[in-house]
Amino acid sequence: MPAMTLPDHSIETPPRAPSPVHGFGTLAVHAGSPHDPVTGAVIEPISLSTTYAQTAVGQPVGLYEYTRSSNPNRENFEAAIAALEHAKHALAFSSGSAATANILQSLAAGSHVISISDVYGGTHRYFTKVASAHGVQVTFSPHIERDISGLLKPETKLIWIESPSNPTLSLVDIRAVASIAHQHGILVVVDNTFLSPYIQNPLDHGADIVVHSVTKYINGHSDVLMGAAAYNSPELHERLTFLQNAIGAVPSAFDCWLAHRGLKTLHLRAREASKNALNIAQTLESSPHVLSVNYPGLPSHAQHHITVKQHRDGLGGGMLSFRIRGGKEAAERFCQETKIFTLAESLGGVESLVEVPGSMTHAGIPREQREAAGVWDDLVRVSCGIEDGVDLCKDVMQALEKAAVGVKMNGAKNGGN
Ligand SMILES: Cc1ncc(COP(=O)(O)O)c(C=O)c1O
Repeated sequence: MPAMTLPDHSIETPPRAPSPVHGFGTLAVHAGSPHDPVTGAVIEPISLSTTYAQTAVGQPVGLYEYTRSSNPNRENFEAAIAALEHAKHALAFSSGSAATANILQSLAAGSHVISISDVYGGTHRYFTKVASAHGVQVTFSPHIERDISGLLKPETKLIWIESPSNPTLSLVDIRAVASIAHQHGILVVVDNTFLSPYIQNPLDHGADIVVHSVTKYINGHSDVLMGAAAYNSPELHERLTFLQNAIGAVPSAFDCWLAHRGLKTLHLRAREASKNALNIAQTLESSPHVLSVNYPGLPSHAQHHITVKQHRDGLGGGMLSFRIRGGKEAAERFCQETKIFTLAESLGGVESLVEVPGSMTHAGIPREQREAAGVWDDLVRVSCGIEDGVDLCKDVMQALEKAAVGVKMNGAKNGGN
C-alpha cells in the first residue's frame, strides 16, 4: 500500500464540529443511538452479518456492503465518539494500538514525528520498532512545550502528545504546542485515553486528532479491546477511512455494541473514579511510606494550572502514580498486599487496579530512558475504579503498612540499609 503524503499546507483551521446543543450525559446516552426503524427497539440490535444483500450489482439494499468497510454498530459507536469529542468525524479500530498504527501509516516515508518521552510503552514500541522500519523517524522530548521549536525539521509532520502521560501523569499544554505546530503546517495528535472525553476534549484546545484506547475508560468494563480516533478535517477523514478499510484493523460488531453500551455511563464513572483518585492521592501524600505522588488533581502537582485550564471542573481523572519508600521490592509487595485493588495491567475499568510500570507495562523501554522520564523501579501506578471510596483508602493504607514492614524485616535480615 503506498504511503500517503500529508498536505503541505499553511494551516487553515479546519471546519470544526458545531458546539453540542446537549450536555455530556445526554450525548453519551443518545448520540448514535437511534431506535430501530423496523421494530422500534430502543437498544440497537447487533448486526453480525459480514455481508449485505444487493438488489443489482453495486446496489446494496441499505447502506452497507461488507462489514470491514462499514457496519451499523460501528457507525453508531463512531457517531457517539464524534459527539463526545466535539469532532465532525470518528473512526473505530480493533485496538488503541491499531488507531495509532493507522495514523502513523498515513505518513509518507521520510516523515518526522515529535513525541513526548513518557508515552505509553506500546506506542513507544510502535514508534521505534515499526514506524522506523517504514522510514518514519520519531524524536522524543521530555519537555515538548519548551523544546518543540528546536526539534522541528522540514520533514516534521506530526506531534504526538499524551496528557496526562503514562505513567508519570505529567501534563502538556495542548494549546501552546498546537499554536507552534500549526504555524508550520504540522498536525497535533493527543492520546486522551487517561482522561476520557468526559474530562478533556483535546480538539477544543487546538489538537487535530484525538485518539483513545477504548479498552480503557470509554468501554469501562475491562471486557473489550478497541480504539478510536476523532477529528474535524474532511481530508483526514478520507485518508483514515481508506486506511481503516485497507489495513482492516476494525472491531467486531459485538465489541462496538458493548463499547457503546459502556460509553453511556462514562460521565458517571469518570466522576466517581476522579473522586476516588483524589482521596487516594491525598491519603498517599500524607503517608510517611510514600516519597512522592503524581496526580494532576492535587494542587501540589507541578502542572496543576493546566489541570484547571484543560480539564472539566479541574478533575484529575482516575489515574495516579506514586513512589514508595523501599524500592522495587516495596512496590511489588504493596501491589500484592492490596485486597480490593487487583494487581494487573490496564486501567479505566469499574474495578481498581495496581501495577509496577518499571517491571510490567513499561519494562520494554530501556532503563536509562525510563528513569529519565520518571519511571523508577519504585513507581506504582494506580487505576481507581468506582468502588466505595472509604474501602479503597483503607485498602491502600493497610497495603502501605505491610509493604513498609516487609522492607524493615528484609533490611534487618540483610544487615540494615
Ligand atoms: C495511553 C494509552 N494509549 C494507547 C494504548 C493502547 O491501547 P490498546 O491496548 O487498546 O491497544 C494504551 C494501552 O494501555 C494506553 O494506555
